[in-house]
Formats: sequence, C-alpha cells, structure tokens
Amino acid sequence: MIAEAKHLAGVAEDFNENLELELLFEAINSKYGFDFRNYSNYLLKKQVLHYVAQIGCANISELTHRLIYEPNLFPQFFQRLSINTTEMFRDPDFYHALRDKVLPLLAEEEIIKIWHAGCSTGEEVYSLAILLRESGITQKTLVYATDFNHVVLEKARAGIYPVHRIKQYTRNYQAAGGEAPFSQYYTAHYNFAQFNPELRQNIIFANHNLATEDTFAEVNLILCRNVLIYFNPFLQNRALSLFRSSLPPAGILCLGKSETLRFTEISDDFDELVPEQKIYRKKYS
Ligand SMILES: C[S@@+](CC[C@H](N)C(=O)[O-])C[C@H]1O[C@@H](n2cnc3c(N)ncnc32)[C@H](O)[C@@H]1O
Repeated sequence: MIAEAKHLAGVAEDFNENLELELLFEAINSKYGFDFRNYSNYLLKKQVLHYVAQIGCANISELTHRLIYEPNLFPQFFQRLSINTTEMFRDPDFYHALRDKVLPLLAEEEIIKIWHAGCSTGEEVYSLAILLRESGITQKTLVYATDFNHVVLEKARAGIYPVHRIKQYTRNYQAAGGEAPFSQYYTAHYNFAQFNPELRQNIIFANHNLATEDTFAEVNLILCRNVLIYFNPFLQNRALSLFRSSLPPAGILCLGKSETLRFTEISDDFDELVPEQKIYRKKYS
C-alpha cells in the first residue's frame, strides 16, 4: 500500500511539473519569441531543473515568474536551453562516409550549396570545410551555417577553440580518413587554437530558427545532426519538411547517429544512401 501511494504521489508530481514546464514555455514564447513548446519535454526538463536549482528558485513556476519580470535573466537561461554540445569530426565514421560517398557525388555539380542547420559553435562546419578543401571542391561551394542562438554563431564565426580539445579533434580527423597534418589548419596560441580564416571563405553564418522560420534557399546537401533529438515528432516533421523543400531530387540529407527518417512524414520521399550513417538521398518524384 505504501509503495502504491508513493508511486501515485510521484505520478502527480511529474504531472504538475510537466504542467509548470508547459506554462514556462508559453511564457517564453509570448515574452521573448522563442518557441520551445514542441521540444522534447524529457530532455529540456533536466536543463530547466538544473537552472531552477542554480539560481535558487523553489520550482519551475517561480522561475517562470522571474523570467517574466527579470528580462536580464533570459539570455543566460536561453544558453542553457539551447544545448550546444558539439565537437570536430563528431562521429568520425560519418565524416569518412561524407568524404568517400557524398562529396564525390556533389563534385559533379557546377555549383554546390550546403546548409548546415543547428551548427552550434561551428566545430562541425570547420570539419566540413576541411573535407571540402581536401576534396578540391571548396571554390565552387557555398555553405550556409545556421543556428537560432546568436551567441554560438559569434563563436562559430571566430573559429577559436580550447587547445585542450585539439588532441581529440586530431584523432577524430584521422579516424575520418584525414591524412594531412591536422596542425596545418590552425594556429595554436597559449590556451586556444584559431582555425585558419581561409577555411571560412565560402561560409555564411546566419541566424535561422527551425521551429518558426521558412526555408531560404535550394541546396544540394543538408547536415542537421543532433538537433532533431531535442524536438517532439510535430517539430521534427516541421524541420524535415523544410529540408525536403530545400533539396532538389538527388539532394542529400544527413542526420545524427540517433536520428532517423523512419516513421516521419518525409520518409517515403528519400532513399537511404548510407543507412548506418543516417545519410539519405531525395528521390526523383
Ligand atoms: C547539440 S547541438 C548540435 C550541434 C552540431 N550539429 C553537432 O551535431 O555537433 C544542437 C544545436 O541546435 C541548435 N538548435 C536548437 N533548436 C534550434 C532551432 N529551433 N533552430 C535552429 N537551431 C536550433 C542549438 O542552438 C544547438 O547549437
């Protein structure tokens, strides 16, 4: 009986917390114009509860109240919500497949346009830039690297990363088939490494929100990795529809390791190009 009562109390607490979370996201959308209402509650709740504890609020409702009346708090909280974890050549096997199986297909195009959506602080974008360079197709390529967080975009534009991460990035680069000395791509300073400005020659960094904005260009390749996992199925389908309309037939879409087109609204419009790396190719209709 006691165990059952405890279980019911836990369910009620969960229900109340989820309700508070929904109200928090409603308030943020109305007050700040950022729409988190269709994100995965499970993943964002953790971030919200950490922040609640960090700033000494009693519960999510108190945080909502503070965010309404203390706009200065929002930028910091937004950084917490936008979850920017990334690294260079993240999942090296994916970059190996990009190098060997995707870029040779794109090389046949006269002009190559690439959309890197949810690019965070840019580590993936510089990884792509290195592959484009090594494949000899940089000159005819234009990359749009977008994110809805202007703070991470500033860091991406700068291309400056902590030097202690470079060892891991070098290993990733090599595991992804890189054969050049990785050190030729950056200048090491005391505690940071600055990636060569030439790498971002053909890259436009821009603000774009997958939850609220439309598509902006036709592109041959889209990389959107480890972003859809934060969305609920409704928002995943919204973003995927944007990708479908941005790609011509034979256009290529790359998702993250734990993401899939299976069971989504656009799955019938794509073939699997490299199934184990979640690389898809749009069908000719
Ligand atoms: C976990 S990071 C993934 C970064 C990189 N793609 C990677 O795989 O390493 C997720 C990124 O998606 C961005 N993001 C989240 N929601 C977004 C939205 N609605 N529109 C655009 N970017 C979004 C976040 O700001 C964050 O930089």
